[in-house]
Amino acid sequence: QPGGTDTQKRRAGESAAAAVPDGSVVGFGTGSTAAEAIRALGRRVESGLDIRAIPTSYQSRQLAREASIPLVTLEDAAPDVAIDGADRIAGFDLIKGGGAAHAREKLVATAAGRLWIVADGTKLADTLDRPVPIEVLPDAVPVLEPALESLGGDPTLRAAERKDGPVVTDNGNLVVDCAFGEIATPADLAADLAALPGVVEHGLFVGMAEEIHVGTESGVDVRER
Ligand code: A5P
Repeated sequence: QPGGTDTQKRRAGESAAAAVPDGSVVGFGTGSTAAEAIRALGRRVESGLDIRAIPTSYQSRQLAREASIPLVTLEDAAPDVAIDGADRIAGFDLIKGGGAAHAREKLVATAAGRLWIVADGTKLADTLDRPVPIEVLPDAVPVLEPALESLGGDPTLRAAERKDGPVVTDNGNLVVDCAFGEIATPADLAADLAALPGVVEHGLFVGMAEEIHVGTESGVDVRER
């Protein structure tokens, strides 16, 4: 349908892709909306755009290959911008990690210094109110569960869908999804989570987004900081 979620994702992805200057090194985020941006950039590359991509996951590396977009690593080049999806958006604060890729996503977005988010309207909220994905060292799970409870959280080890056992990230770690209810002060929680030994990376992206491209029923709503 014209305003459906898939259409909104495509519009958001195309909007961010259209804003990428020639010659850019682009961090490629993960998920179905970032995939729309990668495909849109692939179409621009077919028409002569010169970019290189730093993927944040197995998925985004494959999509870049399919689109014939040259790949580089953080060792080869510094990204100019990262384009990525989000699971929840409140103002310019985000919850990410639904695809278990948030550690590399945060690394690449931070290296770029510019993060453009692409999303459909269902991701918008007044406050961050979803569980926070936390990538953890496998050995740390029994230590981190009580530590997260002490912070007021309700942690659940993420289970794999088509395998018995946990999700293993592209980095060989596990993911704990930790519910905190409505997160009133995300910067404070982000600092508390980052301070826990065994936490590789948490999915709170506080004040990192520079632009948010939200697909709507009729077009795209671009929010800039
Ligand atoms: C990946 O770990 C997440 O941070 C994704 O960016 C997020 O899950 C968005 O995915 P969709 O665009 O498919 O909702």
